[in-house]
Amino acid sequence: MDVWIGRVVRSISLEFLHEILFTILSELLVNGCKANGKRVFFSEQGLDLWNEKDYARGISLYKDEFGHNRKRVFLSLEKSNFFIKLSTMFKEDFIEFRVRNNAKILPEEKNRILRRVQASVKYKNINDAYRESVDNEESSGLGIVLIHILLRNSGIPNQFFELVTGDDFTEVIIRIPKQLIPKESQTRIKELLIREVNSLPPLPAQINKLILIAKKKDVTFQEIAMEAEKDPAIAAEIIKIANSPLFGIHKSIVTVIEGVKRIGLKNLESIFLALGAKKILNSRYAKQVLVWTHSFKTSMYVKFLLEEKRKHIQLLETATVAALLHDLGRMVLLSLDLSQVNQIRVLRSDDNTEISEWVEEYTVGTTHSEIGFLISEKWHFPEEILDVIRFHHKPWQCKSRNNILCQIIYLADILANIGKGKGNYFTVEPEVLEYFDIKSEKEFREMQDRFKINFEEHREEYQNLFI
Ligand SMILES: [Fe+2]
Ligand SMILES: [Fe+2]
Repeated sequence: MDVWIGRVVRSISLEFLHEILFTILSELLVNGCKANGKRVFFSEQGLDLWNEKDYARGISLYKDEFGHNRKRVFLSLEKSNFFIKLSTMFKEDFIEFRVRNNAKILPEEKNRILRRVQASVKYKNINDAYRESVDNEESSGLGIVLIHILLRNSGIPNQFFELVTGDDFTEVIIRIPKQLIPKESQTRIKELLIREVNSLPPLPAQINKLILIAKKKDVTFQEIAMEAEKDPAIAAEIIKIANSPLFGIHKSIVTVIEGVKRIGLKNLESIFLALGAKKILNSRYAKQVLVWTHSFKTSMYVKFLLEEKRKHIQLLETATVAALLHDLGRMVLLSLDLSQVNQIRVLRSDDNTEISEWVEEYTVGTTHSEIGFLISEKWHFPEEILDVIRFHHKPWQCKSRNNILCQIIYLADILANIGKGKGNYFTVEPEVLEYFDIKSEKEFREMQDRFKINFEEHREEYQNLFI
């Protein structure tokens, strides 16, 4: 089910809903099984579910049986005619999940569901609900509570959760809107973003000159170093980057020419682009520190991944440099004040965890990949970086020769982000796992642990690289 949910949410760019939907649907399924099991149990005991006295007696017996002998309950359930059907439908404006079982609901059961819906009112956001559920018995109602918080806070009226009952079925319908705000507001947000991107200055002249030189056919390291030295700030950055763990652990270098050689001709263009982008974005936007730190981490994870898997080593340098730039769009998106255009209340958690960022993109109706793509077009980034920026959350959509590159950064990005509520083994596209020969959740976790330890070792060396 996890893999299936993963596919559904990825297809509509709502990855952040993965875990929430998993929680919701698992809970609805378990509830359905419990309810069906109850019916089987009552008939086994010769009790009438609809008779008040029988119900009072049977329910405490069933609770005990379910608590101690759950396996047996499920086994006899399997042999019965009861079933639960989980289905999903793509509609024009939303995705619909239906959990249906072929049993009539009892008034008590209905009331319990409605009570949970009411309970959701007391939580301001998803994080609050999660936090409280950890040590709260009511956590069994978390799924229903979550869906209500998520969609209610986003200004969606109540039709997203519906309980439909009939004489021979009970069905819960969950509707996830593909977009949370009206088309008109979305167009305005897009216009605002395009205006913002247009207002970005071109890359600094010295950077452009260096890029042109680096692209020349018969260029020498000497020539590039001489030009780079004309700008002391650039010269210093080249030495700093060349000494960073991105380019391996060697003895440290002190001259620009050594730096240029270590970075290598084919990476210089991207490194210059990164320096230019950094200069402009850091002076304009406040949130760049987090994005650069994350980008550097992803870049190191790319290195760990390719070295460990011994795959595409020839792409190692291109991929590490591309990873540095993959989230460029986030800087712009996170920094824009959309409150005037965006009338709905955006979910914000107090501790600013990453999940709120995804919710924010969902409510804004555009992604950082799209914005990053606009910026990189404006600054004439090479095609492989353009593709990485555009497809690093959906590598399967990249049809060019850069597909593998996108897959590498996609996986490294998820690994680097784990622990921030942004993904796990099941959120990764199965083809990518297969491609990198990762066969189980355990293997995935162990790999992630190794990368983490490796990365922590270099923390000090990279900390200030792009800040
Ligand atoms: Fe991203
Ligand atoms: Fe990222």
